[in-house]
Amino acid sequence: MAEDNEDVQLEARLAEQDRFEPPSSFTEQANVSDPGIYEEFEENWPDCWEQAAELLDWDQAHDEVLDESNAPFYEWFIGGELNASYNCIDRHIEDGRGDEVAIEWVGEPVDETRTYTYDELHEEVNEVAATFREMGVSEDDVVTMYLPMIPELPIAMLACARIGAPHSVVFAGFSADALATRMESADSEYLITCDGYYRRGDALDHLDKANQGLSNVSHETTTVVVDRLGEAGFGHDLDENQHDYADLVSEQEGEEVEPVTRDAEDMLFLMYTSGTTGEPKGVKHTTGGYLSYAAWTTHTVLDVKPEDTYWCSADIGWITGHSYIVYGPLALGTTSVMYEGTPDYPDKDRMWEITEEYEITQLYTAPTAIRAFMKWGKQYPEEHDLSSLRLLGTVGEPINPRAWKWYYTHIGDEDCPIVDTWWQTETGGIMITTLPGIGTMKPGSAGPPLPGIDAGIVDTGGEKIEAGEAGYLTVDKPWPGMLRTLYQNDDRFINEYWQEYSDPDSDEWVYFPEDGATVDEDGYITVLGRVDDVINVSGHRLGTAEIESAIVGVEGVAEAAVVGGDHEMKGEAVYAYVITEDGYDGDEELREEIVAGVEDAIGPIARPEEVLFTPELPKTRSGKIMRRLLEDIANEEELGDTSTLRNPDVVSEIQQQAQSD
Ligand code: WT7
Repeated sequence: MAEDNEDVQLEARLAEQDRFEPPSSFTEQANVSDPGIYEEFEENWPDCWEQAAELLDWDQAHDEVLDESNAPFYEWFIGGELNASYNCIDRHIEDGRGDEVAIEWVGEPVDETRTYTYDELHEEVNEVAATFREMGVSEDDVVTMYLPMIPELPIAMLACARIGAPHSVVFAGFSADALATRMESADSEYLITCDGYYRRGDALDHLDKANQGLSNVSHETTTVVVDRLGEAGFGHDLDENQHDYADLVSEQEGEEVEPVTRDAEDMLFLMYTSGTTGEPKGVKHTTGGYLSYAAWTTHTVLDVKPEDTYWCSADIGWITGHSYIVYGPLALGTTSVMYEGTPDYPDKDRMWEITEEYEITQLYTAPTAIRAFMKWGKQYPEEHDLSSLRLLGTVGEPINPRAWKWYYTHIGDEDCPIVDTWWQTETGGIMITTLPGIGTMKPGSAGPPLPGIDAGIVDTGGEKIEAGEAGYLTVDKPWPGMLRTLYQNDDRFINEYWQEYSDPDSDEWVYFPEDGATVDEDGYITVLGRVDDVINVSGHRLGTAEIESAIVGVEGVAEAAVVGGDHEMKGEAVYAYVITEDGYDGDEELREEIVAGVEDAIGPIARPEEVLFTPELPKTRSGKIMRRLLEDIANEEELGDTSTLRNPDVVSEIQQQAQSD
């Protein structure tokens, strides 16, 4: 009872508090503690970015920091040459740190772990690089990886980086179709996948899904299959173009592969993400700019030091894992923890058990996970000693102040700064957040743009708006980690990101991330969410057009509109409004087929929360679906303006149906 009372008092105290200062114990040891860095970067832009490049070892120093002559196709660190795998591995060994741990891997089955020192990582990355060469992978060939959270994923990525072959990692939870589309789009002839993996205690058949995908790839492919499950596997037979990973790698035992010197602007990887149209976009990141920016932000924002044991709980199948499990932390020579499973297996304290056991110093996770922890209750973290934690981070979606405060109190013990980091697949690394040793934290607001980042909020006309008003987020100057283009689609690159607010005539280029935001009088930015047809489910970006195209592919469906509705845990959830074809009923059977259709086309994360059959969709006179109204219906909110609708009556009809469902 007494304890409950204390909690109530604590909640009440925190509820009032809207500003938090970084603890002095943190500030004293922070990688960045001088607030002068903001001014220094502003005055010295773009040369300030030398500081990021200096975190790496270059084979050849750059001649010029930034080339703006072909904007918005900016180039960074021109003339510079380096190798990403050398920077993430070899140089730490040369510094005498070969026996320190690079990757601590924690499997989903309790007690299944693997530790890779930098020496061991070096050995396996070299053997895999030699294997890739032997298979015929040349510099600039795109290698696709369709792997879950097992060590072979970062190993294969680093092996690619070593030989200058860009990787394209496809999230293992994506469907066979999603894999095929991405391999086709990138003309990728090589696939690294595995037999299966564990999810909440069950072995999943992954190779079956990979094979279905491969059957839809029109060109010849060579596949390497990691045996993750061993005895628990599915007894797949490999065909003639498929090889067992261990067999191939053992043939290269002890081989060393000289890291290939890459130009700063050479592609390090492609990462597909969802956009406004159905076709995923291949975001191109480079070796020099991206790696410098990933390392720089890991150093300044996540405060990573070589002796830390740092844990980012994202999946490497998304950009967060690329930048903040693999490239940033390994470039800095720290220990990066990688966990295969879910936070609630075998019990809801799994993350805290890992934190205690490995003495995690920084934890970087997503608001959706924090909301789940909150719902499960503080008793789970309380069972464990979390005092090793020094910094907490969040990424992927807005975090509500209540969840922020819960994280701050029950995980951070009111003694760890929280960095709420805004960025995107396209930005390569963190763009907007407080610096943990400097900035006052305001729960719910990401913070100011990082030093050297020029971001602002504008109205539809591109004019800067007043503090307190809502508008559109823009980035007004280039930065080293930015995407260079969309793979083989320069036009779409311009249309998607630069068209909206730039003035090409006066050569003024403004990057539009397609997010809405507000800014306060201290310059703190609160990101409100996407303003395009992209929804954010549990911090994962999904295009409504992709989901709609999957739904209309189901027999009996005439038309579909998908919107994001508010969801307590996921942030947003998929709501589908569906018109059936003549002669079909909107019944349970069709509903199940629609859900299955979406899972087949994209994956379970895109599964509609609600499928609502309606006779019509609300449309403007020009025939455009008014998604905003459908969102209002999904969120049971008062409807916005319906006066421009061709068919205003349909809205109340859909509303009634939504309520009766
Ligand atoms: C979109 C990018 C960044 C890696 C994970 C997602 C939203 C991201 C925040 C934040 C509010 C955020 C934005 C952004 N977002 N971080 N701290 N606060 N919103 O990468 O799939 O490229 O999605 O996620 O809407 O545009 P992504």
